Amino acid sequence: MYSRIIGTGSYLPARVVTNAELESKVRTNDQWIVARTGIRERRIAGDHETTSDLAVAAAKAAIAKSGIAPEEIDLLIVATSTPDVIFPSTACIVQDKLGLHGFPAFDLQAVCAGFVYALATADQFLRAGGAKCALVIGAEVFSRILDWQDRSTCVLFGDGAGAVILKRSPEPGIIQTRLKADGRYRNILTTPGYISNGQIVGHPFLKMEGSAVFKFAVKALADLATETLELAGLTQSHLQWLVPHQANIRIIESTAKHLGLDMERVVVTVDKHGNTSAASIPLALDSAAEQGKFSSGDLILLEGIGGGFTWGAVLLRW
Ligand code: ACO
Repeated sequence: MYSRIIGTGSYLPARVVTNAELESKVRTNDQWIVARTGIRERRIAGDHETTSDLAVAAAKAAIAKSGIAPEEIDLLIVATSTPDVIFPSTACIVQDKLGLHGFPAFDLQAVCAGFVYALATADQFLRAGGAKCALVIGAEVFSRILDWQDRSTCVLFGDGAGAVILKRSPEPGIIQTRLKADGRYRNILTTPGYISNGQIVGHPFLKMEGSAVFKFAVKALADLATETLELAGLTQSHLQWLVPHQANIRIIESTAKHLGLDMERVVVTVDKHGNTSAASIPLALDSAAEQGKFSSGDLILLEGIGGGFTWGAVLLRW
């Protein structure tokens, strides 16, 4: 048995923050941001909008588009690094808000690689017979962990959520998954503060060594793409689409070049969404699906990379 994506959904907060608006807050400019990252605007959640709110909206859209009854869901994974609270998990909150209960629901934290980690995990459950129908969500409010005085990070991120319904299927579906981590690089991208005795100890906001992250990401994603295709007994010439993590257009272009893939075959949403961490791949997937880009049987590579460092790929047939 395999698992197959039968529906996608997404949700973006209403508030659009353009580069021009950021120019009024920090010493930056539209030209710098567009040239270095490809980002033109991002969405920012309202003060009372939580990760679970975004996740529920995306989940409802995915459920509606897949045509399943919500009661068919028997596994729920939320990939997030910005949970509503320390515990219970955002997945349990989402489960309750959807009016569902009684099946496993848990969060998975692999930062920007979170969605591919969650999808690969759900795939294992479905193949092994541990579940029949999974709701897999990537949802984040990174705006809450940004230092809005730090121009080197605050221009890069946005909020949002994307979701897929993954169902057991005799036909693939997902044909290969590959996950990686290397904790030696944990300090180049981190939100190092922690709570002790009711206080945040250490730096409470996201910190990043931009050029170190850039170098690591370019090499890791290129190697992983080749490795994943090889493991599946395929080559880059078989690939129809790349749906990469949307952090930076230059990293995306570099992966596409490595794969010999024309940019027309790469789903790009970073210009409109910024980096939404675990939400970026399912948001991009839903946006492309909505535009009717994918045809049945297309070979699609999803690739994510994030803090940890963690990175991973999912190769699937649409
Ligand atoms: N606006 C204007 N100037 C800026 C800004 C800004 N928003 N941010 C930094 N600068 C300045 C710096 O202060 C520096 O000025 P200086 O030369 O006077 O000291 C100059 O621009 C160059 O700074 P660098 O950090 O060297 O710029 P770089 O070319 O490396 O670009 C960037 C920075 C875009 C962050 C790049 O390193 C990058 O893309 N890294 C990958 C990071 C990434 O994608 N992170 C996402 C999270 S991780 C993930 O999802 C994989």
